[in-house]
Amino acid sequence: MTTPRTLLALLSSRRFRSGTEIAAELGVSRAAVCKSVRRLQELGVTVDAVPGRGYRLRNEIELLSLDEIRARAPGAISRIAEVFCLDEVDSTNHFLLQRARYENAASSLCVAERQTAGRGRRGRSWHSPFGANVYLSVLWTFNRPASELGALGLAVGVTTVLALEKLGIEGLGLKWPNDIYWNGRKLGGLLLELAACEALGPCRVVVGLGLNVNMPRSDTTSVIDQPWVDLAAIGKEGGRSRNHLIAVLLEQMIPALETFEAKGIAAFVSEWQRLDLAAGRNLELRLGDRTCRGLGRGIDDEGRLLMESDGRVDAFAAGEVSLRLSP
Ligand code: BTN
Repeated sequence: MTTPRTLLALLSSRRFRSGTEIAAELGVSRAAVCKSVRRLQELGVTVDAVPGRGYRLRNEIELLSLDEIRARAPGAISRIAEVFCLDEVDSTNHFLLQRARYENAASSLCVAERQTAGRGRRGRSWHSPFGANVYLSVLWTFNRPASELGALGLAVGVTTVLALEKLGIEGLGLKWPNDIYWNGRKLGGLLLELAACEALGPCRVVVGLGLNVNMPRSDTTSVIDQPWVDLAAIGKEGGRSRNHLIAVLLEQMIPALETFEAKGIAAFVSEWQRLDLAAGRNLELRLGDRTCRGLGRGIDDEGRLLMESDGRVDAFAAGEVSLRLSP
């Protein structure tokens, strides 16, 4: 069967190509071309099919390319032991967690065009249509025990925002622990999962980043249950090429992982404070079936959320806590 990538390489938004022409080029029947086009449409790619003219893409799609990412982020890529660029995977996090069970690479990168079972925090799913967004996971080995990695997600959140700011995007903020927001709407999120840990280290962690770039408008209202935004809507050209975006993200993230190893969250606290959406705000924290309210007071040196209520400041670890910012 023709892969989505192969067919996409032959289609363009600029001109129609007939089924016969495509079939000849791929060495398959016209019926097979028809089937592959339907598969692309099922993946969420809008292909105009006009009798007598053929097929045309509604919008141009830039496919992920490791060569391009490598060319734009040579420093970061050279520090990663193995890299994967997949058309489809259940979850880039799960893929690297599985690899970590059987392989011993100190670091790996996985990006994918589509996730069939993308994971969000707290058991939620992450909507991951084909060719639309960034789905990126990095497996990294830290010579620290798990107890010292609690704030890693906050550090990576900071570096993600710094990378986006380099692309000229303003109005970004971080909602503790791992959400990236733009003007009150969610642009992306991080999911960190432990792959393997010795009591005193080393610890292997998978850092997963999902960033909305160009979400197909058709199917999202029913699937995403909170206000969201993508880079296309924010309208900065710099963030529109996913290869370029991934390169900028990696050039920021890989050195930051090394900095975290050496200095912990201390190296990121001042940037966190600049971007913290919860500080000074009225908060509502859900802990299982309990709800606590108070005033956001930043984070402690383990990355725990500080909340003041009744004159007392308590610290909350991310775990299963869910945070709402009250108006
Ligand atoms: C959240 O905000 O709930 C976290 C979302 C994390 C999504 C990313 S996409 C790449 C990586 N693979 C996954 O399955 N999840 C993370």
